[in-house]
Amino acid sequence: MTREEAQKEIAGLSEKINYHNDLYYQKNTSEITDYEFDHLLDRLIQLEQEFPEFKYPDSPTQRVGGTITKEFETVYHKYPMLSLSNTYSTEELKEFDQRVKKGLNDESYSYFCELKFDGVALSLTYENGILTKGVTRGDGTRGDNITNNVKTIRTIPLRLKGDFPGEFEVRGEAFLPKENFLKLNREKEDIGEEPYANARNTASGTLKMQDSGVVAKRGLDCYLYSMMSDSEKIASHEASIELLIKLGFNVSRTFAKCDNIDQVIEYINEWETKRMELPLETDGIVVKVNSIQQQNVLGYTAKSPRWAIAFKYKAESAATLLNNITYQVGRTGAVTPVAELQPVLLAGTTVKRASLHNANEITRLDLRLGDTVLVEKGGEIIPKVTAVDMSKRPADSKPIEYITTCPECNTELIRHEGEAVHYCPNLTGCPPQIKGRVEHFIQRKAMNIDSLGERTISLLYDKGLVYSPADLYDLSFDDIFQLEGFKELSTQNVLKGIEASKETPFESVLFALGIRYVGKTVAEKLAQGMRTVDRLANATYEELIEIPEIGDRIAQSVLVFFQDPVNRQEVKRLENAGLQLEIKDKPNTKISSALADKTFVVSGVFENYSRDELKETIKNHGGKVISAISGKLDFLLAGDKMGPAKKEKAEKLGVKIISEVDFLKMIEQ
Ligand code: IVH
Repeated sequence: MTREEAQKEIAGLSEKINYHNDLYYQKNTSEITDYEFDHLLDRLIQLEQEFPEFKYPDSPTQRVGGTITKEFETVYHKYPMLSLSNTYSTEELKEFDQRVKKGLNDESYSYFCELKFDGVALSLTYENGILTKGVTRGDGTRGDNITNNVKTIRTIPLRLKGDFPGEFEVRGEAFLPKENFLKLNREKEDIGEEPYANARNTASGTLKMQDSGVVAKRGLDCYLYSMMSDSEKIASHEASIELLIKLGFNVSRTFAKCDNIDQVIEYINEWETKRMELPLETDGIVVKVNSIQQQNVLGYTAKSPRWAIAFKYKAESAATLLNNITYQVGRTGAVTPVAELQPVLLAGTTVKRASLHNANEITRLDLRLGDTVLVEKGGEIIPKVTAVDMSKRPADSKPIEYITTCPECNTELIRHEGEAVHYCPNLTGCPPQIKGRVEHFIQRKAMNIDSLGERTISLLYDKGLVYSPADLYDLSFDDIFQLEGFKELSTQNVLKGIEASKETPFESVLFALGIRYVGKTVAEKLAQGMRTVDRLANATYEELIEIPEIGDRIAQSVLVFFQDPVNRQEVKRLENAGLQLEIKDKPNTKISSALADKTFVVSGVFENYSRDELKETIKNHGGKVISAISGKLDFLLAGDKMGPAKKEKAEKLGVKIISEVDFLKMIEQ
């Protein structure tokens, strides 16, 4: 391909992908399949690698990351990034209002209220409508240049449309939506990793990751709340927010203009509980004097503006008695201590239990049975014990002695070096570990046997029928039929689900095995790297870390798993049961070169074949299937019900339109 051709194709692909992204993310519709979209993107990535000189500064490939930044460059902020003074009381808020009033010599003023988003402050620079820089707050004077990571945040425009100032800066808060945070933690727990403590720190850590490809997968978002420009004369904060919205920035529609401090207090009250429904955590509200001219009159202290203040909501807390500490054992044998509390009403629900995470947390809090403790519910869903009221400590209380043996099977607990969590090492004899492994095995992301559930697994375990995933494949009709609540149909259903799972591809089976640190993505890499379970089971450390994205920790974990004869035996039994334990190569389907280098668009409904079958056939005969009609297209394979616009376009561009019969003739030859 010549440079000119590459340049042209990069331009076309960039435009097309931007168009489809816009449809998908802004208008919630799509015109092409995910597969077709990925195909376009892969092609663009490949061309950009070969011809980097033609890559657009707002190329859509940046959304999926892929760049590695070894060390972030330090950047000085053009305008310092200050902080806000805080208050927790309406009295102090009224004092702030009095200071504003005085500072403005009694002239009239209004406020603009926003929520205080609990994330990571970002500064974005746009030059001629292109996002050129994304920088962290740092120490307020200088921060880290994390542009490549920022570009993966889908709601941050890479190029602006319409009338924009030549150069300006916008500021906002990047955050990990609650939903994504919970999902990420579920995935971590699933593979035996410690969950992240909170969404804010996770967002902050994510933005500082070296590999922007990983950042892209985390699903960060960003709300913008201020704009600064030397050229644009903006009269009020409200006007700057309106401009941000007009330019396509993601502005949380939770703001309100308030004419006086009483209205501000109303806003505070309104959002105290409503904020819990927002997709991110918020810890207060920010009150800003609306007029920019008045902001300038009021000015700044060394650290913060005099024209703004943050009102922080108090985390809801309640005092109650710690009655007991119990211990839960998870699938991986990890032991979690749980505080059993005297039931107490907190933020509308009765709280009876709170997680204590691990032994260190108990020591940190200096907890004792019978203590009066404070429980808090922040933005998080699970309440936590935050402190002990020492004044109420019973005189005869003694420090808690952390358990040394498993509460479920009595085995002595172990603690891996450098880890906070205790583990029960009795993998094969500890009931919650056994049941947990089978539950992990059947889950949707793994073997997807949805006719089985936690309750049935527990029943099967109690009857002594299922102690490991492989036992599922030995179950008979009678084994299941005898279980409480099972009838003929439900029994058949379970058996059908188990049978169907034998078709689950190798990478999912590998994930289902529950090897520590082997999540879904890692399982895919291992499966691709080794192709068969035999090769994986016998791989050396060196061979394992040769596989892309497999590091020391995972390699060790895989080695440990396959060194255990019990695991090897289990895998053998699964293999004998007929599960997929190697990557099935698509058979070499190349039939002929009859369509070599010819491009096709397939559209409409056909008499003899489905669209997908036709596309497969085209590829099997050396042809290429593309999604859009252009002057370069060779054939439009048209069925019934094809949109008239496509036909018209093809005719206009002189593309040959063929029927199913014409097509079949082409390959017959
Ligand atoms: S305006 C002079 N508006 O709070 C600082 N900040 O304590 C002007 N924040 O670093 C900032 N939500 O990270 C502003 N609606 C909002 C905000 C907000 C969260 C954060 C921001 C800032 C910190 C200041």
